[in-house]
Amino acid sequence: MNEKAQIVDLQSIGHSSGIITVAESGRDFPFSVQRAYFLHGLTERSKRGAHGHVKLRQLMIAVSGSFRVSLTGVQGTEVFRLSEPTQGLLIPPMTWRDIDEFTNSAVCMVLASDRYDEADYIRNYSDFLDRLKSEN
Ligand code: TYD
Repeated sequence: MNEKAQIVDLQSIGHSSGIITVAESGRDFPFSVQRAYFLHGLTERSKRGAHGHVKLRQLMIAVSGSFRVSLTGVQGTEVFRLSEPTQGLLIPPMTWRDIDEFTNSAVCMVLASDRYDEADYIRNYSDFLDRLKSEN
């Protein structure tokens, strides 16, 4: 599976009383999930992210509402608007992310390849760009 930042379409199973959407490891995204977390209590003024990860891979899903995700990595900068619970945004390692323009009460769910490890974060943008350049 290509590991560039990209939208992946998730399988949805329609039902007269609702829809099941499935994100399956190895089929829809290229890692095993070690952690799931979600951002909620968000408002239009919320700004999240502002960091990169060295090794972590993630699949981000707007399970409710919508928001903007700006990613910078080896591909350059790409901006995505997540608004469909049937789509995931695959975020490869060494990607800086800024997340904003949330709709009120949006919920951002993240499936992650590793448990929480502060040592995997790069929180300074110029340090991130230096490291990205040195690795490519
Ligand atoms: P951070 O990843 O910077 O949040 P976001 O990208 O959503 O803005 O995390 C915010 C704080 O929460 C930071 O102190 C680390 C902590 N945190 C955990 O303890 N465990 C986790 O799994 C996550 C994602 C964050």
